Amino acid sequence: MFDLVPLADAPADAVEALLDAAFGADRHGRTAYRVREGTAPIAELSFAALEAGALVGSIQCWPVELVCDAGGRVPMVMVGPVAVSPARQNVGIGRALMRRAIEIAGTGRIAGGDALMLIGDPEYYAQFGFDDAATGAWRLPGPFEARRLLARGGAAPDRAGMVGPRA
Ligand SMILES: CC(C)(COP(=O)(O)OP(=O)(O)OC[C@H]1O[C@@H](n2cnc3c(N)ncnc32)[C@H](O)[C@@H]1OP(=O)(O)O)[C@@H](O)C(=O)NCCC(=O)NCCS
Repeated sequence: MFDLVPLADAPADAVEALLDAAFGADRHGRTAYRVREGTAPIAELSFAALEAGALVGSIQCWPVELVCDAGGRVPMVMVGPVAVSPARQNVGIGRALMRRAIEIAGTGRIAGGDALMLIGDPEYYAQFGFDDAATGAWRLPGPFEARRLLARGGAAPDRAGMVGPRA
């Protein structure tokens, strides 16, 4: 069985190694990294999964915003990367990490927590309420597949604009 703990309680080098194993060591060039460039993970929404003291999963969430073409900025939270150790996938760890982050985001205590977004497979993230209904007019600072740009929450802005880091 695994426990979820604040990400800060897991060794940072183990988290980096897990992300390399899940996404490849060249992951830093991905568009998702550019969207949140220069920001730090939101501590209250970032967790590690530990099993017998070993890191088996992690989730990080980041402060981002939609800079609307028509003016104004809408705070959002970017979810991910979500990663589970290849040897421990498909036993519910990813689901538990997602549910915990969504639960805390829903408390209303965190800016942008009512508008979660991510880049990921809709086949996996639909179960948590993510879809592309609001994201069709969003732009990102790099290439992405439109079908993989997903949002969740009534405050996700269905407006044209650029998604980027929130100061
Ligand atoms: C995607 C990932 C986070 C899921 O975590 P997990 O702990 O393995 O998944 P869970 O145990 O919560 O859920 C397993 C279910 O999700 C399904 N699933 C996993 N990845 C999927 C994907 N990319 N698309 C569709 N379904 C997927 C599994 O087939 C399984 O289905 P089942 O319950 O019907 O058997 C994990 O597999 C992982 O780290 N993958 C590599 C990195 C990655 O792609 N991260 C997501 C992008 S941010």
